[in-house]
Amino acid sequence: MGIKNRVALITGSASGMGKQTAMRMAENGAKIVINDIVSEKVDETVKEFKKAGFDVIGKVADICNKSSVENMVKETVDTFGGLDILVNNAGMERAGALRKLSEQDWDITLNVNLKGAFLCS
Ligand SMILES: NC(=O)c1ccc[n+]([C@@H]2O[C@H](COP(=O)([O-])OP(=O)(O)OC[C@H]3O[C@@H](n4cnc5c(N)ncnc54)[C@H](O)[C@@H]3O)[C@@H](O)[C@H]2O)c1
Repeated sequence: MGIKNRVALITGSASGMGKQTAMRMAENGAKIVINDIVSEKVDETVKEFKKAGFDVIGKVADICNKSSVENMVKETVDTFGGLDILVNNAGMERAGALRKLSEQDWDITLNVNLKGAFLCS
């Protein structure tokens, strides 16, 4: 089964591997939801995808925030009539020695990498 006309939401897809994943899926006919926390990057990426002729919408949302995620999914379904594929790509890391890691950095890393994926799923 291909992904043509399937609706795909890729988190953190306004840059890096998420953007490349979204691009490959768009090239294979999927309808794409670009999500990121940085609105300028979302606008830029959506513009780029539209220019390439892809069916795309952008949703600025912090995946750690439950109501933001719920709104994003609702607006996706309202626009495309459903949601078939989720790519839990958004993530971050605070590089360096564990003993130097602050509690705040620990919390934000787990929030984005684990809670974010949990809420979206
Ligand atoms: N690049 C690598 O070598 C590598 C290796 C292993 C794992 N990963 C993981 O793969 C994923 C993508 O990596 P990348 O190198 O493309 O990273 P990246 O930093 O280029 O992209 C991550 C994107 O996620 C977005 N993001 C961060 N927090 C967010 C939030 N709360 N809500 C919505 N969007 C948010 C960022 O703005 C960014 O655009 C990450 O989860 C990363 O940890 C990357």
